Amino acid sequence: MKTILKQITAVMEEAFEACGYESRFAKVSLSNRPDLCEYQCNGALAAAKTYHKAPIQIASAVAEHLQGHPMFLEAAAVAPGFLNLKLSGSFLSGYLNQMNQEGQLGCEPAGQGKTVVIDYGGPNVAKPLHVGHLRAAIIGESLKRIYRYNGYQVIGDVHLGDWGLQMGLIIEETRSRHPELPYFDESYTGEYPSEPPFTISDLEEIYPTASAKAKEDEVFAKAAHDATVKLQKGNRGYQAIFRHILKVSISDLKKNYARLKVDFDVWKGESDAQPYIPDMIQKMKDDGLLHESQGALVVDVKEDSDSKEIPPCIVQKSDGASLYATTDLATLVEREKLYHPDEVLYVVDKRQDMHFTQVFRTARKAGIIRPETKLTFLGFGTMNGKDGKPFKTREGGVMRLEHLISDINEAVYARIMENREISEEEARGISQIIGLAALKYGDLSNQATKDYVFDVERFTSFEGNTGPYILYTMVRIKSILAKYKASEPSETLPETLRAAESGSEKDLQLLLARANDVIAAACEEIAPHRLCQYIYEVSNSFNKFYHETKIIGEEDREKQNGWIALLSATLAVLADCIGLLGFDAPEKM
Ligand code: ARG
Repeated sequence: MKTILKQITAVMEEAFEACGYESRFAKVSLSNRPDLCEYQCNGALAAAKTYHKAPIQIASAVAEHLQGHPMFLEAAAVAPGFLNLKLSGSFLSGYLNQMNQEGQLGCEPAGQGKTVVIDYGGPNVAKPLHVGHLRAAIIGESLKRIYRYNGYQVIGDVHLGDWGLQMGLIIEETRSRHPELPYFDESYTGEYPSEPPFTISDLEEIYPTASAKAKEDEVFAKAAHDATVKLQKGNRGYQAIFRHILKVSISDLKKNYARLKVDFDVWKGESDAQPYIPDMIQKMKDDGLLHESQGALVVDVKEDSDSKEIPPCIVQKSDGASLYATTDLATLVEREKLYHPDEVLYVVDKRQDMHFTQVFRTARKAGIIRPETKLTFLGFGTMNGKDGKPFKTREGGVMRLEHLISDINEAVYARIMENREISEEEARGISQIIGLAALKYGDLSNQATKDYVFDVERFTSFEGNTGPYILYTMVRIKSILAKYKASEPSETLPETLRAAESGSEKDLQLLLARANDVIAAACEEIAPHRLCQYIYEVSNSFNKFYHETKIIGEEDREKQNGWIALLSATLAVLADCIGLLGFDAPEKM
């Protein structure tokens, strides 16, 4: 259904035209003086110039025309020419009732027929997940859900980092530990063992060990480098080890992402792009796009309008190895072939800005994607500690994601146990649900591109602009609904809202009526923080209404039923929005 803003605008356009003014002046916006009105139209001020009239004359004529219109309680012209609008209670509650009937909060499927690939996650195989990957996962997951809600067909791709030097390092380290394994025997032609020669904990130790070794030991570093090239060229034994690494890592990653309620439709990685590389490079050569620079093959991507220097994009190193840009380009070749996307959205650390500028320009120049395909880079900021530096463990090391999650859960658990009325076991379960909300909301409530300070204390607070506060509000609503149900023998809850009587009731209704608009904007602007802002307002507004209204004690049944419907509508909005942010609410807390 049309957003409430569009519906009001349509009526305003009619009114302008009826009064002899062009409808383009009838722009309506949310009021910036909520004390005076709910919506406003400043079009008379602009129209005044065109029609050589005083703005108030135009505004008055339009206001006059709108008198008695069922949409408005008040449409007033005020000096110097504003139109102040207040909605009628019946129109507003009617809008909400229709929203409820349509489902999906009356959101229009703006993305219907369009396909978007969202590239988020980007964990590097064989390295543990750390907080650096947290934002990609949290923001990307939320965007995937938001796009879907808006009707897009979305393919979420984890895009594993599985094709770099870390593979050569692990191969070489495994060789030095177990040189007898068949993978290293060039003359071996049999089948390789199906059991991996390492566990995930081995891998987590092997990689840092090998990486440290390579920094000290040049011979080892060279061997690891050579092993990487050999793997990329298809060496059989190395490919077999590679598959082991991948399998062991992926099953561990899946466990970790599941704890975050993050999941991917496609588990592809840089290595999957490999088969597309030779043809892609050949075509670039044929098109005269490549030139040699110190033995490497590069594409010039600078443009006249650049304000800073954009270096050429290197697509092949002098030893023939491919690079990060090469796999990203070839991945686009594959994505175009498999999904024919209308947009590819990358949710990656903003420090990779230059890389994506180079890749996008090269992809366009080389015709890897269709000209109309949007390539979007959402570069997110860093998660910092309270000292303003990238978040670390207390010892100063890289924080592992699972430790961060348990820290948050512990903090929530401690809070719940402060005023405990529930068993320890139940508190543990609830802490996990609230902990995830604290973590995700703490992240998503900031504009993605900005850095933010990770503050367990603040994020887990049950008051203020936090995930737990939103959940607390939802649990409060659930408990009132449960009380009502207990007192009322009927099976279903009343669903029809009534025209608001009090100010706080109307404020809440006004907010709820904007849900579809906000969700559409969060999608268009690629901005989950818009949802956080919104549900914080809804929660505040609900709590105000709740404190001013005796719901369960109300004796007028019709009135009470209307409120119960309002509560259900509030809960529905909050539930859908937290779902879009990627977390759930507990039954109690
Ligand atoms: N693996 C990369 C990293 O850890 C992130 C990958 C992002 N996605 C991409 N298509 N480049 O930095």
